[in-house]
Amino acid sequence: MKILVTGGAGYIGSHVVKELGRRGDEILVYDNLSNGHDWAVLYGRLVKGDLSDNGFLEEVIKEFSPDAIMHFAASIQVEESVREPLKYYRNNIMNTINLLEVMVKDGIRNFIYSSTASVYGIPEKVPVSEDTPLNPINPYGFSKVAIERILNDLSKAADFNYVSVRYFNVAGADPEGRIGQAYREATHLMTRALKTAKGEFNKLQIFGTDYPTPDGTCIRDYIHVDDLAVAHLLTLDYLLKTGKSRSFNCGYGHGYSVREVVEAVKKITCKDFKTEEVGRRPGDPPVLIADSSRLKNELNWSPKHADLDYIIMTAWEWEKKLD
Ligand code: UFG
Repeated sequence: MKILVTGGAGYIGSHVVKELGRRGDEILVYDNLSNGHDWAVLYGRLVKGDLSDNGFLEEVIKEFSPDAIMHFAASIQVEESVREPLKYYRNNIMNTINLLEVMVKDGIRNFIYSSTASVYGIPEKVPVSEDTPLNPINPYGFSKVAIERILNDLSKAADFNYVSVRYFNVAGADPEGRIGQAYREATHLMTRALKTAKGEFNKLQIFGTDYPTPDGTCIRDYIHVDDLAVAHLLTLDYLLKTGKSRSFNCGYGHGYSVREVVEAVKKITCKDFKTEEVGRRPGDPPVLIADSSRLKNELNWSPKHADLDYIIMTAWEWEKKLD
């Protein structure tokens, strides 16, 4: 199969490229390298390009003529989206529309969309299933809901099918240590905690200790990036086989609080570090835990790394390699 991967030089995209490459798919990565790295593309060809550049994008898509496009290129930080909503609406909504327009024009009908648990906002019930109403509470989540809505409309109006994969908290790194999270400004909990353990920061801030959770800090469902990558291949095969447009949650169905993650990071790294309890971070829902029964039952997804210590260990090995 010929697969075009936008954002394939980034954290999640590069792990998906690794899995596609392993099974022999032909890959073209389209990435502007704003957060991605050329060394992260382990298979296929990398083309440096921006999704806002319609002309170039169309040229690349026409020439490669993919069977499907997997779309990872996006801005992804909840807190930043609250401060800079327009950046999120431009990158995540307008650029995706550009891509979809080119796809429709060139008759490319299969699309895998990188969505998020942020689409649910503060869900009434956890674990969260795909039927939960979409009620985002931050611009990042809204940008993803907007595209899901557009995809739904498009699938009815054109010869176009999609799968939207809604991720919970992705963490960990390639067990062979070749790729991992390498954002220039990392804000995610696991990465911040590991960088603090490494001595890059003198303390880790804990955002909010008064949430309605057992220890007062937010609970998230942390999933190893390789399990998520495999889930993408399953959804891709499903889409190519059935042509059905669907959404799938991807998480383990088990949550850890911020404090639990911090303690686990200290244990795995054998490093003690200072923490500081500060106020809530805007845009954070208290608890997000996935109900991934659909992915497990319908696509036989069987995660291999559902273990917080293992996730931290692979991320720590990776983090130690970074400057
Ligand atoms: N946190 C801290 N200190 C930090 C960083 C984070 O206390 O230095 C807390 C946050 O306030 C939050 C939790 O750790 O309560 C997790 O925060 P992250 O920034 O690691 O991740 P988010 O839950 O905000 O968002 C991530 C992805 C989204 C995805 C979401 C789904 O970035 O794309 O998980 O659960 F939608």
